[in-house]
Amino acid sequence: MAVSTRERIHILQIKLLQWYAQHGRDLPWRQTRDPYQILVSEIMLHQTQVNRVIPKFQEWLKAYPTFEALATAPIEEVQQLWRPLGYNFRPLRLHQIAKFVVKEHQGNLPKKMEQLLALPGIGRYTAGALLSFAFHKDAPIVDTNIRRVIQRIFGVKENPMRGVGKKRIWQLAEAMIPESKAYIFNQALIDFGALLCTAKNPRCSDCFVKKICIWSESACYKKQLVHVLKTN
Ligand code: ADE
Repeated sequence: MAVSTRERIHILQIKLLQWYAQHGRDLPWRQTRDPYQILVSEIMLHQTQVNRVIPKFQEWLKAYPTFEALATAPIEEVQQLWRPLGYNFRPLRLHQIAKFVVKEHQGNLPKKMEQLLALPGIGRYTAGALLSFAFHKDAPIVDTNIRRVIQRIFGVKENPMRGVGKKRIWQLAEAMIPESKAYIFNQALIDFGALLCTAKNPRCSDCFVKKICIWSESACYKKQLVHVLKTN
C-alpha cells in the first residue's frame, strides 16, 4: 500500500523521537540554551567531528564565556586557541560575529531569522540551529547529513543543492517538525544521520523507519545484496 508524505512524516516524528530518547548522544552543547554557547558549538562542529570538538568547546568557554569576552580578546590569541580544530577562518568569523553582536545588539544574540542572517557568515542552517536550539522556535535545519536523510526517506530525486530539489528538502525539513519540538527533533535528525543513516554503509536493517523509507525499499537493499554476493 502506498504511503503518503503526510503519513511518512507522522511515522518519522514518532519513531525518531522514541529512538532519540534511548540512543541520542549526551553532548555538552545540548545541556544549554545559551545562544552564545550554541553558536560556538555550531561553528566548531562545521567540518569537525564531535569528539574533537568536545574538549575544545569546554576550553573555549572558559577562555571566552560571553560575546563581550570574545569581542574584546585579541584575534591572534583567539586564533591560537582554535588552532587544533583547523580551518582558520572560523575563529575569525566568530570574532567578527561577537563584535557585531556587542555593537549592534548590546551583546545579546537577536531572535529573528532576518537578524540572524544579517550576522557575518551566518547562513540558513546556523540561523535555524540557533532559533531551534537556543530560542526553541520551530525552525528547520538542513546540513549534509540531514539532506541525505530527507532525500532517502522521501525519495527526492531532483538535485538537492539547487532549484526545486533544494526547495523541496527545506520544505520537508520544516513540515517534519512536531509542533514546539524543533529543539529536540533537529538534534534527533543530526544523530540519526550521524549514527544510523550514514553516508557509507547505512544501517538499514536496524533502522526504525525502514518500512517507510523509499531508499531503503530499493537502493539500500540492492546495495547490501551486491555486497553479500561479492563477499561470499
Ligand atoms: N553537528 C552540527 N550540529 C550538531 C549538534 N548540535 N550536535 C551534534 N553534531 C552536530
